[in-house]
Amino acid sequence: MRIGLIGLGRIGAFHAATLADLSTVDTLVVADAVPAAVEKVVAALGATAAGSLEELLAAVDGVVVAAATDAHPKLILAAVEAGVPVFCEKPVARDAAEAADVLRRVEASAVPVQIGYNRRFDAGVVAARAAVISGELGRLHTVRSTTMDPAPPPAGYLAGSGGIFRDCSVHDFDIVRFVTGREVVEVYATGCAHGDPVFAASGDVATATAVLTLDDGTLGVVSNTRYHGRGYDVRLELHGSLDTVAAGLEDRLPVRSVEPGVTFPAGRAHQSFMDRFGPAYRAELAAFTEVVAGTRPSPCTVADAVEAGWIAEACTLSLREHRPVRLEEVRTPTPA
Ligand SMILES: NC(=O)c1ccc[n+]([C@@H]2O[C@H](COP(=O)([O-])OP(=O)(O)OC[C@H]3O[C@@H](n4cnc5c(N)ncnc54)[C@H](O)[C@@H]3O)[C@@H](O)[C@H]2O)c1
Repeated sequence: MRIGLIGLGRIGAFHAATLADLSTVDTLVVADAVPAAVEKVVAALGATAAGSLEELLAAVDGVVVAAATDAHPKLILAAVEAGVPVFCEKPVARDAAEAADVLRRVEASAVPVQIGYNRRFDAGVVAARAAVISGELGRLHTVRSTTMDPAPPPAGYLAGSGGIFRDCSVHDFDIVRFVTGREVVEVYATGCAHGDPVFAASGDVATATAVLTLDDGTLGVVSNTRYHGRGYDVRLELHGSLDTVAAGLEDRLPVRSVEPGVTFPAGRAHQSFMDRFGPAYRAELAAFTEVVAGTRPSPCTVADAVEAGWIAEACTLSLREHRPVRLEEVRTPTPA
């Protein structure tokens, strides 16, 4: 199978190596706005460089978009118009209204689109979801989802990110929906801009917490920071009336217990999304090759991603206005 890859930055270069290693991918055609990034991947993996977007789309069976967020709508729609199945990194667009516009145009075609919410492919998250579905947790009442980065991404990335809720917490919002099968109806979000002055200057925050109310009354607590010196901490905890389960509670969890005699966790702390989610990224890209082959539907649709995006919009407004926000306040109605 011939796969295209557009965007060869932090995650794109990582996806390039994963794609090149999949037995189903025999040709990898790559592009990036920066020629040096292309040369590096061509030299390292024997990929082919595309001369233009049109040339790339004409030469592949499916395309992976890992370019900067600003470029996602245009690249998704170009691929769909060319009839080429697309995998696009999260988020779909800078804000949910623009993502909803992409959704309307994608739904008007039969071309499959998969969005890169990689945690849906994490073994622990999958097991946590199964525990909810089986009923073994009893009445689920609280979901805690945590994403803590060791250090902020580069200032240039932050400037185009749309803020912490749209860029980082959106993973937690997606996973709360995924594991519970419920929709968020109300949020209250707060945050602080401790750290680099770039956060306050851009109206963003470096640390945030959002309380989510789901449509069955279950509560979600989403906790994020750009400053978690001990490592990359991604955890999901589900508390029910009969049992509690946690994904990410393993030896490499970047937390130090201060209890006397307790040595857990004892492993080298995760430092980045690459080492925490390597198998999940591989599984989601392998799933995309099945989507391209027509043997499975998209496991994470644009509609899913738009819903996570509305939660991010509600949190952004809640933070700004310091009040609870209901989802219907921010959601643009979808025309019939
Ligand atoms: N799923 C995840 O865990 C995860 C992790 C990191 C990043 N991401 C997402 O992936 C995207 C990229 O993030 P990153 O950290 O790799 O950013 P980055 O800034 O390191 O890389 C972005 C790359 O895209 C290229 N680019 C920008 N516009 C382009 C265009 N129109 N055509 C071709 N190339 C273009 C840039 O030259 C750069 O090489 C973001 O949308 C981000 O939200 C997802």
